[in-house]
Amino acid sequence: AKGPYRHFMHKEIHEQPRAVTDTLRGRVDFERGRVTLEEVPLSPEAARRISRIVIVACGTSYYAGLVGKFYFESLARIPTEVDYGSEFRYRDPVLDADTVVLAISQSGETVDTLAAMERAREGSARLWSIVNVIGSQAHRMADACILMHAGPEIGVASSKAFTASIVDELLLALRLAELRGTLSPEEIRTHVRELARLPDLLGRVLDREAEVVEVARAFYRYEDFLYLGRGLLYPIALEGALKLKELSYIHAEGYPAGEMKHGPIALIDERMPTVALALQDPVTYEKMLSQMEQVRARRGQVIALITDGDRAASARADAVLSVPHAPRWLQPAVAVVPLQLLAYHIAVLRGCDVDQPRNLAKSVTVE
Ligand code: F6R
Repeated sequence: AKGPYRHFMHKEIHEQPRAVTDTLRGRVDFERGRVTLEEVPLSPEAARRISRIVIVACGTSYYAGLVGKFYFESLARIPTEVDYGSEFRYRDPVLDADTVVLAISQSGETVDTLAAMERAREGSARLWSIVNVIGSQAHRMADACILMHAGPEIGVASSKAFTASIVDELLLALRLAELRGTLSPEEIRTHVRELARLPDLLGRVLDREAEVVEVARAFYRYEDFLYLGRGLLYPIALEGALKLKELSYIHAEGYPAGEMKHGPIALIDERMPTVALALQDPVTYEKMLSQMEQVRARRGQVIALITDGDRAASARADAVLSVPHAPRWLQPAVAVVPLQLLAYHIAVLRGCDVDQPRNLAKSVTVE
């Protein structure tokens, strides 16, 4: 079932273009440039009444939620919070009928996420979910469920379910934006056109795996890594660090780049490489460049994720992972792929059991 791949995880990373194609199929009217998403039946009035979205999830699915917060807020103008299932369930959250609680879960069986969903039910919130496993609890419990269409994920560490969740959130945000009138039909058409190119973009990122292998060879012996990102790429820094921890047992921390000066910069020395997510973006890019300079001024090595042909960024890096230019909203999906591959190849070089990392289970059905 692994085909030409040595590990399920590697296969699943490579399945991402296909997973995104399947996620879009039937939900997007490419001809007319609209998102249909019939799984979430809503009238314009009902969509306008939504006052808040609370995303509940764990682990990688929680990081997908952090990306979704940008989509729901910027595109649909709905205030959005993201919470860990394990925290939400034990708080006394303020909920009402105008709040949507959106659970994200690959397995649909994560006990903390399910408990958070029950809490939402008690608080009379609307309950939606984004789930990969058909017929799972989180699929059945929700008033409306968007299935990821990522296909079975066997590797314990999540990869294709993460990209599928991000795409589902973007579709949902666009659908809500249309119903609430926060984006014009023309703006939505532009988003849909961009989304249609995502599978191809991901394929082009995967074609550069040799570049990632080279970086993995140069850095696999280090014991601590820092991952820095801003804005839409901050959740990707967290996800990149989580993948490295899980697969290779290397200590890695994801941090919002702007927080460096408030503490973590004290950690930087020649033994702790920094993975800097420095894709071109009108808001975050320049600041990321200066952050990279600060790391190097303290003898830290920088592995930069850059946009193709970006000389300013590569001049500030010791090693480079490059991706094709991607529209802003799609950058998280594009940027995560080289980080998944980096964690994978470092783990393989260190002789780790990639598909079954120690101490981990695919679906966490205990507290
Ligand atoms: C990370 C990973 C875990 C899961 C988490 C939630 O690679 O796989 O962090 O993301 O246990 O699982 P689901 O999405 O099944 O609720």
